[in-house]
Amino acid sequence: MLDVSTVLVTGANRGIGLEFVRQLASLEPKISHIIATCRNPDAAKELKSIAEANNNVHILKLGLTDYNSYDAFYAEVEKIVGESGLDLLINNAGIAIHTLLDETTPEEFMENFEINTVGTFMLTRKLTPLIKVSQRKLIVYISSTAGSIERANASFGYPAYKASKAALNIVTRTYADYIKKDGITSVIFCPGWCKTDLGGSNAILETDFAVSSLIKTISTLNAENNGCFLNYEGKPVPW
Ligand SMILES: NC(=O)c1ccc[n+]([C@@H]2O[C@H](COP(=O)([O-])OP(=O)(O)OC[C@H]3O[C@@H](n4cnc5c(N)ncnc54)[C@H](OP(=O)(O)O)[C@@H]3O)[C@@H](O)[C@H]2O)c1
Repeated sequence: MLDVSTVLVTGANRGIGLEFVRQLASLEPKISHIIATCRNPDAAKELKSIAEANNNVHILKLGLTDYNSYDAFYAEVEKIVGESGLDLLINNAGIAIHTLLDETTPEEFMENFEINTVGTFMLTRKLTPLIKVSQRKLIVYISSTAGSIERANASFGYPAYKASKAALNIVTRTYADYIKKDGITSVIFCPGWCKTDLGGSNAILETDFAVSSLIKTISTLNAENNGCFLNYEGKPVPW
């Protein structure tokens, strides 16, 4: 059982993030507050219909790299979760610029890096005080085996995406070690290759299967898992 009363999911308007919100909203006993963030709430039709059917789902606007909006965003989250803090942060939002080794531009490198690595870290650091005061104190990063150096080979290429996820892994593992003193457990996941806009239609996993597996695995996490890189089933992924 996922024993959390407050959760925040980034990139919740489509793909893996939307599926997280759908499944979290259907869990019993009900999670008190599920904060679903997206860049454009007005256009988030499916997410809005989940929120209309579940009064524990709150939609907040967030662009990961809109750093100037972070103070106002923090205040909105704090108002929702109150003194209970934020039990579980699911850092899901990300992009994949799928260009080949021969073609990737400097701009594509920087865009992947800014959103997947820098934005994800900055948001996590911003929200850490709310996680620190919660009961469960969990941070999950949806990274990718694409960022595994041991598994790296020339297939696909995608150097900008791979580099941004490898960078995310080192930054978040370092931060995991830094905030373990506050009792916070941070775990880096690969969700598997899922059928989403990012994963494409040839992907091998249905998104609902990957997310239900992730939720099962997240519900088992404890301090021993801090700083680990796991797949959706909780098996270690090589760095
Ligand atoms: N699908 C796979 O096979 C796979 C495999 C390994 C890892 N992953 C990881 O899983 C996560 C989710 O992927 P997905 O497959 O669900 O992708 P997706 O369907 O393309 O969804 C990506 C989500 O991230 C949001 N996002 C992108 N840039 C953002 C920004 N600057 N600020 C805030 N939100 C932003 C998108 O919002 P907009 O709609 O506004 O663009 C969207 O909600 C990503 O981190 C990805 O790297 C996916």
